[in-house]
Amino acid sequence: MFQLKPNFEKHQIIISMSKYIGILTSGGDTPGLNAAIRAIGKACINTYGMQMVGFRDGFRGLMENRRLAIDKAALSGILTRGGTILGTSRDKPYKMRVGNKERDMTDVIVENYHQNHLDCLVCLGGGGTQKNAYHLAEHGLNIITLPKTIDNDIWGTEMTFGFDTALGIAVDAIDRLHSTAHSHHRIIICEVMGHRAGWLALGAGISGGADVILIPEIPYDTKIVAKSILNRARSGKPFSIVAIAEGALTQKADELIKNKKKEVENAKKKKEKAALKEELRALDKKLTSNTLYLARQLEEITGLETRITILGHLQRGGSPSAADRLLATRLGTACAHHIHNNEFGSMVAVRGNETTLIPLEEVVGKVKMIPPDHVWIKCAREVDTCLGD
Ligand code: F6P
Repeated sequence: MFQLKPNFEKHQIIISMSKYIGILTSGGDTPGLNAAIRAIGKACINTYGMQMVGFRDGFRGLMENRRLAIDKAALSGILTRGGTILGTSRDKPYKMRVGNKERDMTDVIVENYHQNHLDCLVCLGGGGTQKNAYHLAEHGLNIITLPKTIDNDIWGTEMTFGFDTALGIAVDAIDRLHSTAHSHHRIIICEVMGHRAGWLALGAGISGGADVILIPEIPYDTKIVAKSILNRARSGKPFSIVAIAEGALTQKADELIKNKKKEVENAKKKKEKAALKEELRALDKKLTSNTLYLARQLEEITGLETRITILGHLQRGGSPSAADRLLATRLGTACAHHIHNNEFGSMVAVRGNETTLIPLEEVVGKVKMIPPDHVWIKCAREVDTCLGD
């Protein structure tokens, strides 16, 4: 159907095929998701005369055809709200729990997309979501994605929305931990999220003035960490703040993981590869988020009382920061523009002051880790922060 939609504010008339757009949020929630839904929705409906429908709880909602009307009323008053009005899940189209079995539900999802007469599906999510979205694009669906995650680790975009809010929460926590660590002459370890990349720990550690920052990109030696804390104590500062990413590893643990990864790579048979991948997952689970163990070790070596604070999901809750609202609105309105131009199979990414499209095949299977020569790493070292190496 052709639609003639006058845009009185801009004194221009946009003639467009009236498109029907599906939208879902998938993976861990992030502050700014509602701001992005609002931006995409308002631009699609008001500027381009499209219609929208939401699917609840990620790809599962599309598989089960659980819909939510996305109209002007649904989009009103959500800019500042945390979470996602659509709900989310970590379900994958090709590996979905149905009953007590894991099944490939791709065909059902593809069928529902067509049954709903969708012209495009917008997927808002992190690294896993980009992979799932690419999988659906390969099955012929018109897909466009937005990068969200507090981890800021999506390949191809300089920034993801959610990161700035989580950074603010983590810095506030470190500030508060400082005064109590100081009063009690204690070491306090603050664990922040970030399994594969340390953007959040490094950013919060630098901004909060942590004395030690441990990130997945730089495997650490506990003795070096203890030595730097003891040096501080000898110089009259018998307290220290350690900011650690949940995915940070000791040098020994990193070696074990690397060896297991090599075994996975070298495995020739499918079954053997799958079993080794499972072993790798188990090893990763065992060796990461060992903050309590680190605390015991530091207490033993330094003789200083040590406490831990795990920020966990606090970092994903609540209202988005101004920077995240702005970023989500920029990415969301750009997304509507690309849908209008029939540009699919890509993620809308941040490049300096601009937004750009990155093909999904370039995004998937990679993690944007902190490069060793990154300016944040350089400046952390220059202000005497111990990075554990
Ligand atoms: O993907 C973002 C993230 O918050 C990671 O930082 C963290 O490792 C993970 O999600 C936690 O996932 P869940 O909410 O499923 O426990």
